[in-house]
Amino acid sequence: MMKLRVIETNEGIQNEVTVEMFDQFARGMRDKGWNGVDAMAASGLTGGNMLELGPGPGYVGLELAKKLNAVSLTGCEISPAMIQFAEKNATEYGIKANYVLGNCMELPFEDESFDTVFSNGSLHEWENPIRAFNEIYRVLRTGGRYCITDLRRDVHPLKKAMIFSSTQPKEMRPGFISSLNAAYTISEITELLRNTDLNKATVTADFFGLCICGGK
Ligand SMILES: C[S@@+](CC[C@H](N)C(=O)[O-])C[C@H]1O[C@@H](n2cnc3c(N)ncnc32)[C@H](O)[C@@H]1O
Repeated sequence: MMKLRVIETNEGIQNEVTVEMFDQFARGMRDKGWNGVDAMAASGLTGGNMLELGPGPGYVGLELAKKLNAVSLTGCEISPAMIQFAEKNATEYGIKANYVLGNCMELPFEDESFDTVFSNGSLHEWENPIRAFNEIYRVLRTGGRYCITDLRRDVHPLKKAMIFSSTQPKEMRPGFISSLNAAYTISEITELLRNTDLNKATVTADFFGLCICGGK
């Protein structure tokens, strides 16, 4: 039987040493082409004014903004230490991104502000995903698209072992396990979405994660 979710954190990754290590990890994932950017683009995101939720050090959004030729890139991130890394990395990309300290449960943006809303690897940390899903819908323009990707707890144990052993730096491996234990299964997320403004979303399982996407 599938083990129950074990909540990881409601405050995001705050510790500065962990943040620095996460930056190395996320940079490595980008370099291997494993950060889901191609799948996000393939889900039909069109660029325009883009909002990233929980950007961490920013690589996913920066790569996606580059790929989709975005008009603007805004990030809403709960950890000030992550924002410092994201700003440094945006400078390296030559992209003028705007990282805002905030919580996905109460996005600090007007209704219908963005053409694209996306997020990778952050959903399992959200205290109240139902509120976050409704917030995504609220800030999205009519005709806009969203894509939320994350780990999934119902991944096959062999894949779990494979990802665990390829996680670098090694110090990130316990964090990978706790993130996986906090992640949703496909059926849990489908049930959660049912009572939100994203109730028409398409939910798919990929190699080791899940993808929630759709339009307004
Ligand atoms: C595992 S990291 C993923 C970072 C990045 N998206 C990536 O794929 O490399 C999760 C990020 O979500 C942020 N986060 C967690 N809860 C959040 C919330 N409620 N609002 C905004 N950001 C949040 C964390 O601080 C962290 O930077």
